[in-house]
Amino acid sequence: MRNVAVIGAGQMGTGIAQTVAWHGMKVMLADVDLDRAEAGKANIEKAVTRLVGRGKLEADEAEALLGRITPVPDYAPMEAADLIIEAATEKEEIKQAIFEGASRVLGQGAIMASNTSSIPITRMANHSPDPKRFIGLHFFNPVPVMGLIEVIPGLATSQETTDAVIAFARGLGKEVVLSQDEPGFVVNRILLPMINEAVFVLGQSTAGIEDIDKGCRLGLNHPMGPLQLADFVGLDTCLDILMVLYKTTRDSKYRPAPLLVKYVEAGWLGRKTGRGFYDYTGGAPVPTR
Ligand code: CAA
Repeated sequence: MRNVAVIGAGQMGTGIAQTVAWHGMKVMLADVDLDRAEAGKANIEKAVTRLVGRGKLEADEAEALLGRITPVPDYAPMEAADLIIEAATEKEEIKQAIFEGASRVLGQGAIMASNTSSIPITRMANHSPDPKRFIGLHFFNPVPVMGLIEVIPGLATSQETTDAVIAFARGLGKEVVLSQDEPGFVVNRILLPMINEAVFVLGQSTAGIEDIDKGCRLGLNHPMGPLQLADFVGLDTCLDILMVLYKTTRDSKYRPAPLLVKYVEAGWLGRKTGRGFYDYTGGAPVPTR
């Protein structure tokens, strides 16, 4: 792959664009409009500047990395892309609209991938011009740091497409886990019930936020406790993934904790809104209950 396009300039899309550019490839970055795409690039610039400040990246490398990222106003320039990666909100109707729009410019032989955390790949492939060239490519946050990419072929995905994205993922310095197209794939199928259970534990006042997180950090050696991780992922995203698991399997073990639903209804979505289970407005996270 030499030319990659990323649709969605939020937390995941910018992380993917930064990582791809870091590995020498050109990246087009799109969102609903050019302003959003440019704001995404500005966030990448901040992250890269921090790395330079901490001596992790040379200034000239940072400049070259940023030079490889081009915010674009729409999908038209993506006809030159070998790979288009959708990294938009975890809502199927939004993703479908993106696939339909990007399909009009998808080059012959180019691959379309979705960074969905849980939505079935086989179903979404139906909204692309060639399901043989459609695949799930699931990155983890923060993308430049996390060592894993899940690769999820749909029912119709060709072996050639699967091989090409595995090579791409390894070229980014990541390990690959290959998953069948089952709800939540491998990692989120395990992670989301854990986060959800932590919210039930909080809702039943078995322990407070700090102790739940401390328990998992120190008792399980997780870098973050499940409630802090939920804030980091976004409580709306956690709820969206749980709802996909719940609706597709109809298994009550995936029913979202009522407190999680309440937080999302309150607009307390985690770090991105300044408040979730922790308050981030003063910088360091402070537990809210
Ligand atoms: N680009 C490149 N490097 C970066 C970076 C960026 N944007 N941001 C941070 N880093 C590097 C830092 O330079 C630092 O490197 P060194 O260790 O070499 O110094 C390293 O990452 C750690 O960063 P910090 O020191 O700032 O922070 P930390 O030590 O507190 O770690 C963390 C932060 C990596 C996020 C850690 O807390 C962690 O691993 N948390 C769990 C994250 C996790 O589980 N993610 C998966 C979420 S689930 C998901 O994403 C899938 C889904 O579908 C929901």
